[in-house]
Amino acid sequence: MAAVQQQTVLRDAMRRLNMTRDAFASRIGVTRRALDTWLLPDGSPESRAMPEIAGRYVSEILERAPTEREYTQSAYSAIAFEGRAHLLSVDQFSRDAVEALFRVADTMQPIARRQKITRVLEGAVLANLFFEASTRTRVSFGAAFCRLGGSVCDTTGFTFSSMAKGESIYDTSRVISGYADALVVRHPEQGSVAEFARATNIPVINAGDGPGEHPSQALLDLYTIQREFSRIGKIVDGAHIAMVGDLKYGRTVHSLAKLLALHRGLKFTLVSPRSLEMPDHIVEQIARGDHVIEQTADLRAGLKGADVVYATRIQKERFADESIEGYTPDFQINQALVDAVCGPDTLIMHPLPRDGRPGANDLSTDLNHDARLAIFRQTDNGIPVRMAIFAMLLGVEHQVQHSMRDAAWRSPAYVGPDDAVFHGID
Ligand code: NCD
Repeated sequence: MAAVQQQTVLRDAMRRLNMTRDAFASRIGVTRRALDTWLLPDGSPESRAMPEIAGRYVSEILERAPTEREYTQSAYSAIAFEGRAHLLSVDQFSRDAVEALFRVADTMQPIARRQKITRVLEGAVLANLFFEASTRTRVSFGAAFCRLGGSVCDTTGFTFSSMAKGESIYDTSRVISGYADALVVRHPEQGSVAEFARATNIPVINAGDGPGEHPSQALLDLYTIQREFSRIGKIVDGAHIAMVGDLKYGRTVHSLAKLLALHRGLKFTLVSPRSLEMPDHIVEQIARGDHVIEQTADLRAGLKGADVVYATRIQKERFADESIEGYTPDFQINQALVDAVCGPDTLIMHPLPRDGRPGANDLSTDLNHDARLAIFRQTDNGIPVRMAIFAMLLGVEHQVQHSMRDAAWRSPAYVGPDDAVFHGID
């Protein structure tokens, strides 16, 4: 290899891999001194030719490295699963990565509120594959993609999909990858969405894998908690979070508990009937942080002093036995209970849907006019957070700010009839 070519190859390699001389020398297994001599200008007395075998090794490393464009995409640092752009579990996130995503979500707010529009994903296609019931997750992922300028293709349920004919996850995922630029999947089996991801190079987002995880819901829940807390001067570190209901099969609480545990000094009160307690592996994962964890079946005692009450629905579709010992209508979170045991700033949250039928032991509709009820602020926040997820996975997050134009149509100041009650809660 000629000296000039050798220097250029080495300098390019270090730039592409974003490595210092020391780091690069150790990556290719040579001393820093040897690398220095290979980098010396042509003709200088100490310059040495790089052995051919070292040259081949450098090219091999570069072949395996992400391309320049991929390397600069934040997906590789912020939202990556096994080194590729997918969102499968909240375990992928550090606290910094969550904050980076939330900064992008903040830039999406004017678009989510229909004041601005953008076309950064013009021409891109999203495939929404939902093999389980969904209203908000499917529609909000679709709406988020559309508000970035992309288009959406949907399929719902097994009945009308070729999986009913015995098609494998691998085949389905590979086929759809030829049609679309991103895949959002909800499926009744835990771990199934990761299987979709292994069969494709396009980004895959887990929109709920059975009783496993629901990472985008946890992100929008944490985003909501942060925004509501900042309004009342609280921070997430040191907060008291009560999670109530089906903690065994509820994937939203699995993801949210782990995401919250990235913070410091939380108190978790896990309130559920004995048969629906939070799985041990999640409790153990949370317990690795400096948090206090209490488990109880006593709803009234469990809610006392909580900054956030996060209620969930019983996931009846996930178990055969209809009767759940100790789970009676007394377990309902309603106005009387909230007034008796919660403070004036307690946030009442729920991933929805809630069972609103009379006698249901879920979050009661009699709280609808209570400003502490944050459920529709949660659903509204689903749009900017899911837009941020798409923007980061597809590498357009830095283009959004400069691409915005005013929206041409008129929309109401408050989208819900009761939203004005929450005026000032921004
Ligand atoms: C939840 C889900 O499907 O995991 N809803 C949601 O996505 N917002 C909760 C539930 O079904 O109870």
